[in-house]
Parts: sequence; C-alpha cells; structure tokens
Amino acid sequence: MSKVIVTGGAGFIGSGIVRALLGAGVGRVVVIDNLLSGKESNLAEVRDSVDLQVADIRDFDAIAPILQGADRVFHLAAIPSVPRSISEPVPSHTANIDGTFNVYRACAEGGVRRVVYAASSSAYGDTLVLPKTESMVSCPKSPYAAQKLMGEHYAAVYAACFGLETVSLRFFNVFGPRQDPSSAYSGVLSLFMKHLLARTPPVIFGDGEQSRDFTYVEDVAGLCLKASLADAKVVSGRMYNAGNGGRITLNETWRLLCGIEGVEIAPKFGPPREGDVRDSQADTAAAVRDLGHAPRFTFEQGLRLTLEWYRANL
Ligand code: UD1
Repeated sequence: MSKVIVTGGAGFIGSGIVRALLGAGVGRVVVIDNLLSGKESNLAEVRDSVDLQVADIRDFDAIAPILQGADRVFHLAAIPSVPRSISEPVPSHTANIDGTFNVYRACAEGGVRRVVYAASSSAYGDTLVLPKTESMVSCPKSPYAAQKLMGEHYAAVYAACFGLETVSLRFFNVFGPRQDPSSAYSGVLSLFMKHLLARTPPVIFGDGEQSRDFTYVEDVAGLCLKASLADAKVVSGRMYNAGNGGRITLNETWRLLCGIEGVEIAPKFGPPREGDVRDSQADTAAAVRDLGHAPRFTFEQGLRLTLEWYRANL
C-alpha cells in the first residue's frame, strides 16, 4: 500500500486533507506534526486510521526517515499568520523556510513522487487588478508572505533540478470547522464566530472594507487531492490559486453572520493591521482547467456549516 503523508496533518487544514484522503479510500495516512498549533483532537474520529508521528519539520533527521518512500506528501506544516510573522519573525522563518526546505530535501532524497505545497495568497500583496491571476508579479508585504513565496520557488526548483514532482497551491483565506479561535493570531472568521455565539462585538482592524476570498476547508482539501493526482507533465513545478473566486468585505461578512444568527451587534474598530493586504480574490480559471477545481460550497453554505460546528464544539 502506498504511503501518503500530511505534514501539519493535526492542524485545521491538514486534518481536513487527512479526512479527504481517508474518504477517497487511502487506507492509512501518516501525519507529521509537532503539535505546536496542531491538536490530536482535530483527528478525533479518524485517529485509528492515522499514524501520527510527532516531529518538527525543522529537524531533518527526525522527518527524513518518515518521509522516505512516500508516494504523495501534502506539506501543510507551518507557523501561519501575517501578524505573528511580524511579532515573532525568527520561529516563523525557521519553520516556514528552513522546515520547508527540509521537507523538499527529504522527499527528493527519499524517492517521494509528489509534494503538494500549501502556498499562500498573501504572496500577491496588493495588486492593482482583481481577481489575482497566477501570472501576476508577487509582491509580499509581510515576512509570512515572503516565506510562503520562497516555498513556492523551492518547489519549482526541486521539480526542475531534483526530479521531484511538486505543485504549489496558493490558499485563499481558508475557513471551516476546527479553525482554532483561541489566539490573537486566529483567522478572522473563527474570531467572528466566537464573538457571534458569545454575543460580543468583534474587533475589525481598519475600516472593515478590506475584502477576502474566503474558501471552505473541504473545497481546499478536495483541490489538494486533485493536485496530487493531476498529470505531472501539465502541473509539476507550477503554482495555482486555491480560492473560491468570490470576494466579500469584513463589514459585509459580519452583517451576514449577524443576519444568519438573527442578532444585531455593532463591531468595534481598531487601527489597521501591519502587513495586511487590502483586497484578495482568486482567479480560479487555471485551477479549473488543469486540476479540475470545482468548489462545492458557496461562502454562505460554508459559513452556516462552520457556525453550527462552533455552536456544538466551542
Ligand atoms: C493571510 C492570507 C491567507 C493565509 C493566512 C495565514 C491574505 C490575503 N491572505 O490571511 O491566505 O492563509 O494569512 O494566516 O494575505 N482581522 C480583523 N479582526 C481580527 C482578525 C483579523 O479585522 O480580529 C482582519 C485582518 O486585519 C485582515 C482580515 O481580517 O484584514 C483577515 O485576517 P486573517 O484572518 O488573519 O487572514 P489574512 O491575514 O488575510
């Protein structure tokens, strides 16, 4: 049976990929996670089908034997968050750049066939034109964005120079069940949901007119699987947007959530956040064409499913 590995597989998105793999009939999935932000509980009902290896991608010697001989690797392990990369640049750099290099190196040396890399829409920075297409010049505004862009470059170079098949997917603000709302660095929708259920006002940084292409986690996980199986001659060494294709402002999003819940709560407004991108929206044409991307959830469907999950689990 071929070995399939998810680095960061105990995290919010990684555990979604684990579930998608198991749902697609991959018998046993190996997870590499240091459990820093990942949690074993994210794997709860699938735990028996998962081989969880607690290891840090910054430790090459620890991860290389695990990655050895895998057929497909989904590289999700990272220290996420734009603001965290500004307040704690060193761990963010070592995990996201050194750790990512270790993963590619171990995969190439260990005879892995393909790596699907979790890149980030933050790499675009502010573009004059929306939606953002893969051919646009990258313009990172934060350490996190620069690190994730470096990971893409290394993916392309490992495909070109070391015979490793790689595909980079730029995730666009992924949300859904299991996104942890407990940190100041948590994704905005998880924080919005926490406040909505507690009936307290969220803090919106800036005027709230910044916009995002929020993408439901199951759609991203589905696309990752497709990227791991697509024709290497077409996709290897390339980067694709992994977004839904829509765009909504934070103000509209909060109003929509309040409407779903039937409450009226005025948000508080704080100063704009350093490193923030103003608007984000994916052009999904290339991913549709080459990977068969077909998002199944509208933003509102995803919001409702996520809200119900938080109601049951918070
Ligand atoms: C960025 C990337 C995203 C990546 C994520 C990793 C962009 C466009 N997107 O997300 O693809 O997965 O980093 O961490 O760069 N906000 C509030 N109040 C809060 C928290 C956040 O108003 O309490 C605002 C932020 O200022 C920002 C928006 O909400 O404008 C989204 O923030 P967040 O959820 O942290 O994600 P991004 O930084 O956009």
